[in-house]
Amino acid sequence: MEKPFTRKDLEAGDYRIIAKGRWGNADLYQVQRGLKIWVVKDFLPCPPFIRKTWGRFMVKREFKALQKLEGIVGIPRQPFRLDIYAVGYRFIPGKTLKETAPEMIGDDFFFQFEDIVRKMHQRNMVHLDVRNRKNILVTDEGLPALLDFQSSLNLENTPRFLHKIMKDIDISGVYKNWSKKQPASLDSTRRAHLESLNKKRFLWFLKGYPLGTKTDRRS
Ligand SMILES: Nc1ncnc2c1ncn2[C@@H]1O[C@H](COP(=O)(O)OP(=O)(O)OP(=O)(O)O)[C@@H](O)[C@H]1O
Ligand SMILES: [Mg+2]
Repeated sequence: MEKPFTRKDLEAGDYRIIAKGRWGNADLYQVQRGLKIWVVKDFLPCPPFIRKTWGRFMVKREFKALQKLEGIVGIPRQPFRLDIYAVGYRFIPGKTLKETAPEMIGDDFFFQFEDIVRKMHQRNMVHLDVRNRKNILVTDEGLPALLDFQSSLNLENTPRFLHKIMKDIDISGVYKNWSKKQPASLDSTRRAHLESLNKKRFLWFLKGYPLGTKTDRRS
C-alpha cells in the first residue's frame, strides 16, 4: 500500500510517544493523519550497528507478517514501511491485557482470541510471543487484538517438523492468559492441552522471550 506519510512528515508533524526503546527495542509513536491514527515502530534511534542489522531485519519481518495477515480482524491493518528502519500500521484503540482487570473482559473474549490465532495459523504464520500480555489488546469495543509480529515466523520458510510445535507454542500462550484472567471458562479439554504443553521441555524457554528475539524494555 502507498505510504500514508513519510519520515519528513513524521518529523514535521505532531506525534505522541507510546514507548521509548533501549538497545534492540524500537521507539513507538502514535501519529494522527486526518481521521486515521497510525503506530510507527522505529529503530532509527537505536545505536547504528543495531539499527542497521537487527532493526532492519525486525522491520522487514513485522511488515511482511502484517502484509500476509491483512484482513484478519484483530490484527493491525494497512502496514507500510516508512523507510528501512521503521514500520507503520493502524492504531487500535484499547488497553493491553496486562492493564485490564478480569472483570472488564467479556465472556467471549478468549474464544475470539483463540480464533484470531487459529486464523493466523491458517495463513501459515506463527507469532511466538502470545504469552506476553502486552502483545494482546482489549479494544475499546471489548474485542481482542494481537500485536507485535517482530518474533513471528512464516512457516513456509520453516522446516515442516517444527510447524506443530510452533503452533502449539502460540496456543499455549492463548490458554496461559485465559487461565490467568478467566479460569472458569477454560474448559477441561483446553486445560488438559495447556497442561500437556507445559510439561514439554520445548516450552521452557518461553519464560523469557522466544528465540532470543527481544531484549527487555525499560518500563
Ligand atoms: N496497532 C496498535 N494499536 C494500539 N496500540 C499499539 C499498537 N501497536 C503497539 N501498540 C502499543 O505499543 C506497545 C508496544 O508494542 P509492541 O509490542 O509492538 O512493541 P515492542 O517493541 O515489542 O514492545 P514491548 O517490548 O513492550 O513488547 C503495545 O503493548 C501497545 O500498548
Ligand atoms: Mg511487544
